[in-house]
Amino acid sequence: MTAAVSAACALVLLAAVPASAGGAEPGAADGAGAGDPYFPLSGNRGYDVRHYDLDLDFTPATHELAAEATVSATAGERLERLRLDYSGPRIESVQVDGRPAEYRRDGQKLVIRPARAIRPGGGFTVKVRYRGVPERISDSVLGDYGWFNTDDGAVALNEPDGARTWYPVNDDLRDKATYTFRLTTPNGVRALANGEPQGAPRTHGDRTTAVWEMREPMASYLSTVAIGNFAVTRGDAGGIPNITAYDPAGGDGSFLQRSTAEAVAWEADRFGRYPFGSTGGIIDRVGAGYALETQSRPVYDGAPDELTVVHEVAHQWFGDSVTPATWRDIWLNEGFATYVEWLWQEGHGGPSAKETFDGYWATPAGDPFWLLRTGDPGRDDIFNYDVVYVRGAMTLQALRDTIGDQDFFTLLREWAATYRHGNAATCDLLRLAEKISHRDLGPLFDAWLYTAAKPGPSA
Ligand code: ARG
Ligand code: ZN
Repeated sequence: MTAAVSAACALVLLAAVPASAGGAEPGAADGAGAGDPYFPLSGNRGYDVRHYDLDLDFTPATHELAAEATVSATAGERLERLRLDYSGPRIESVQVDGRPAEYRRDGQKLVIRPARAIRPGGGFTVKVRYRGVPERISDSVLGDYGWFNTDDGAVALNEPDGARTWYPVNDDLRDKATYTFRLTTPNGVRALANGEPQGAPRTHGDRTTAVWEMREPMASYLSTVAIGNFAVTRGDAGGIPNITAYDPAGGDGSFLQRSTAEAVAWEADRFGRYPFGSTGGIIDRVGAGYALETQSRPVYDGAPDELTVVHEVAHQWFGDSVTPATWRDIWLNEGFATYVEWLWQEGHGGPSAKETFDGYWATPAGDPFWLLRTGDPGRDDIFNYDVVYVRGAMTLQALRDTIGDQDFFTLLREWAATYRHGNAATCDLLRLAEKISHRDLGPLFDAWLYTAAKPGPSA
């Protein structure tokens, strides 16, 4: 990087100053939020979650959820109080390390006062029991997300901050954790989640419990459960289970099964080893209007086309394994997954990625297409297709044109390898690209990501 530090890294320097530094009570570790620039209330300070054990009993006929969530965490400091993000149904009890704890709800937070303070560095568990009908969030610009009750069950699509609609969570992109899901339903109803099933479902009386485990670290926005009258198929994708589910009333799941296995193999060839222990997909009529790259097993709102599968599978590397450090860096998810669609077309007899780029490049400089900054689109535009998805992908094509195919594909693989199961920011991408190519790429990043205008022809 040159002396004139790129905006990519200047933003990182600014972000190092906690947003709520002035307001946080010292030692209380509960200044609202973890400092995300777009979702400042999300996440909490003072502890680090290691594992969520979510015991969920759901009745499709009434959509009632009876749940016990056990959050295992490590305290970063002495905690007299702690907060979790929670907007779910009525709480029945809260325990910390087996002792009843005082609690109150404050907006989207659950504030807990343990019977005795948690010591710094110590492990602790919070157990929350709650019951009722969870509800999704309807945001005027981001749309509907969180817990969706469906005709025959429910599906969770949390992105960006909807996990709190169905469990108490440290909803911070950087606090990844492993998960166990214990899903109980009336007999005959199927229940799936991220990761792999632990043995066959067990029936006890008129209810059945299925246990699923996500063993790799997962950001909370990627957690999911899907409950309904699914047909479930278990196949193989290059040695890992390929578990797909679809609503038989909505068609056939064999296309999803096949295209998922193909996309996983093709993408692993290009981006390195697939990051999780299983793959698959879930097709349901959710009514969300979008698909989501839920970790290891994306959810499709109706039967997807091939490029949608390619996109959601690409997110397993770009977004799920390598997760942005803040929501401002959402282009690292959507620009990459969209660019993988372009690469797929290039590799399958369609237009080259450069030709796809050229089609969009023809957009006149005065068009609103160029109006916002791809690397900092603003909270309301994190899912803006032109700004984040298309111009994000164009940024990667511009980078490829500048550093050449060999360095570009090395960069994609090293990006996936270096930050595997972690978090990264645009500044990290700039540094890695400069290291691999031995070039000053700050101007290119500034023009493509941090300027609300069509880049000059040289950028
Ligand atoms: N990440 C999803 C995708 O890649 C889109 C999610 C849109 N979410 C929303 N709340 N509108 O297609
Ligand atoms: Zn996407």
